[in-house]
Amino acid sequence: MQIQHNISLKPYNTFGIDATAKHFVSVSNSDQLKSVLSLKEYPNKLILGGGSNMLLTKNQDKLVIHINLKGIEILSEDEDFAIVKANAGENWHEFVLWCMANNFGGIENLSLIPGNVGTSPIQNIGAYGVELKDHFVSCEALSLTTLETHTFTKPDCQFGYRDSIFKRQEKEKHIITSVTFKFTKRNHILNTNYGTISSELESMGIKNPTIQDISKAVISIRESKLPNPKDIGNSGSFFKNPVITNKQFETLLLNFPEAPSYSVSENEVKIPAGWLIEKAGFKGKRFGNYGVHKNQALVLVNYGQAQGSDILKLSKLIQKTVLRIFNISIEAEVNII
Ligand code: FAD
Ligand code: EPU
Repeated sequence: MQIQHNISLKPYNTFGIDATAKHFVSVSNSDQLKSVLSLKEYPNKLILGGGSNMLLTKNQDKLVIHINLKGIEILSEDEDFAIVKANAGENWHEFVLWCMANNFGGIENLSLIPGNVGTSPIQNIGAYGVELKDHFVSCEALSLTTLETHTFTKPDCQFGYRDSIFKRQEKEKHIITSVTFKFTKRNHILNTNYGTISSELESMGIKNPTIQDISKAVISIRESKLPNPKDIGNSGSFFKNPVITNKQFETLLLNFPEAPSYSVSENEVKIPAGWLIEKAGFKGKRFGNYGVHKNQALVLVNYGQAQGSDILKLSKLIQKTVLRIFNISIEAEVNII
């Protein structure tokens, strides 16, 4: 473990922003993490996972701690279920593939989401009808101030849509070091209703899908819809889909009868932010080095040399325009740093 100075964070964030870390360290085990946190000369820290949900808007004076804690362990199992603990630095998608290889069911719909296992509870990652919370048991987290380890159970985490306690009361107070899951070993509960999964399975010629088939279908859909950060810098959905009241929705329908929506409760609907942004005229718009993706208006992109502050400026223009046209506020999903 070595503290490096003045290094570029470009390879460490999927937006490909060339911001500098004044101090940087990669930690591979808990002892290293604790000893780094005890260093008095670096009081301010930025925790870095896979860098796939952050927009770096400036050079970082903080000590950037890259979480590289590896290891997957089956804590217990019977004929029906397995309890599995994965350390925070495991790559999420590789962990999903490990589950598929072991025939552990639960997170197949979350295939190909970038980032680390340790970050997955922070915004309760979700896709194609499944959220992390559906298979989450607990996570261990190290307090940045006391260096004590706390276990957060599912109720402790207060999970919501792209939300948890780690984005609110406990924001930036802990480093999640491991996550424990409960998976099915047989009688898997398949989730094929969302979006285009069933038509994708049909085109693959599959009538009775396995969890592995669903994983493959999700990978294929995602590859066709979302830009690969290796080709073009991005952070997935830049904004959350806004949830509005039925009353607000009725008003929206007066001017935009074609507006799509998904019911989330008796009184509320979710509006796809991608639709609002497209309708506001931003889809495919390019502003020099950055812009809005041509196939998915919810994804802001860096064509090469953009600065984080450029993309932040564009995101604010989009928010202002959407508010003016639709009277709906859209909130960033990406962490602005
Ligand atoms: P980072 O960007 O490294 O960090 C995000 C935040 O968490 C930062 O504030 C950081 O300081 C903090 N942090 C990181 N690790 C820890 C830790 N161990 N303990 C405490 N704090 C920590 N998300 C979805 O939910 N669904 C999707 O379908 C989806 N699709 C995506 C597609 C693409 C192409 C991309 C680029 C992103 C997508 N995302 C999606 C967003 C992203 O993959 C997830 O939010 C992911 O969980 C971020 O993980 P990360 O390790 O890269 O986080
Ligand atoms: N739409 C448009 N124009 C666009 C994009 C979308 O009109 O340019 C409308 C269409 O009506 C479409 C609908 O939005 O049917 C939904 O689009 P899509 O299926 O692509 O999903 P999304 O709502 O844009 C959400 C998540 C994704 C997740 C997918 C699949 C959020 C903020 N985003 O996107 O998560 O992968 O569903 O479940 O909830 C992420 O969080 O980074 C992310 C990629």
